Amino acid sequence: MKHFINLDDLSEQVLTQIIDRAIVLKKQHKAGEINETLKNKTLAMIFDKSSTRTRVSFEAGMAQLGGHALFLSDRDIQLGRGEPIKDSAIVISSMVDAIMMRISSHEAINTFALHGCVPIINALSDESHPCQLLADMMTYKEHKGSIKGRAVAWIGDGNNMCHTYMQAAKAFGFTLNIATPKGYEPNQKFVDRYKAHIKLFNDAKQACENVDLVVTDVWASMGQEAEQIKRELAFKDFQVDETLMSGAKTDAAFMHCLPAHRGEEVAAEVIDGKQSLVWDEAENRLHAQKSLLLHLLS
Ligand code: CP
Ligand code: NVA
Repeated sequence: MKHFINLDDLSEQVLTQIIDRAIVLKKQHKAGEINETLKNKTLAMIFDKSSTRTRVSFEAGMAQLGGHALFLSDRDIQLGRGEPIKDSAIVISSMVDAIMMRISSHEAINTFALHGCVPIINALSDESHPCQLLADMMTYKEHKGSIKGRAVAWIGDGNNMCHTYMQAAKAFGFTLNIATPKGYEPNQKFVDRYKAHIKLFNDAKQACENVDLVVTDVWASMGQEAEQIKRELAFKDFQVDETLMSGAKTDAAFMHCLPAHRGEEVAAEVIDGKQSLVWDEAENRLHAQKSLLLHLLS
């Protein structure tokens, strides 16, 4: 059974194949070619958090591949009323061909994989966001070529996206400079596991020096709304603005998984400027996940 719960569930070779196929699928889709490889297949999409890109890309992607996607909010299904995760996994997986989960608890996703009988896709947990990294790596490749041997700066919170960039640094062979305020470093388990591929900083400028790509994310992730004010203070020197970008290589790219808060983690002049790849990055969620679905379901 193939799952996609952690980026490194798949080898570098398979990840590269998925990305290269995504680039082909994008061209075919834009040329109007029909690909109904997933005809009669159903994807269940379980959400306990909000989403724009993830929901739209998986739902549109399944439709484009001839299949069907079911949007299941935890407010509507019995899981949200306390039906055990194991029971939900057995029942839902007996009726569909794959399950995509945006569930806070990474452990709950693992439990689904343990008891279900279809591929499980992590569509963002408190720990990681592997689908986003497929799109990010695809976007970098389209615009700049191979990321192997390059330097990437992660600026801001040591959160789920940061953890997945750490996994990507190992899988795709780049160096990751991580700049966080003190107390907001990535989880120690990830630091220990990926230490050969990362460098930790508490200074955003130092982390950006001469890098090929600068990436950031919101200061308060979903579920941390109550910490917004405290975080705004803690992260005030970690905004990606033109001064910070000027320390990176002149042709460096900027990425953000979105949604973004202009004036907080990123200045409008950067996210809306020439170095920003965020719109392609968002669109590529569609193409990368179609390629992932084809890999998991064929
Ligand atoms: N980047 C991302 O996962 O966006 P959504 O929260 O809108 O799905
Ligand atoms: N770190 C953010 C990513 C959103 C796509 C969050 O978890 O809310």
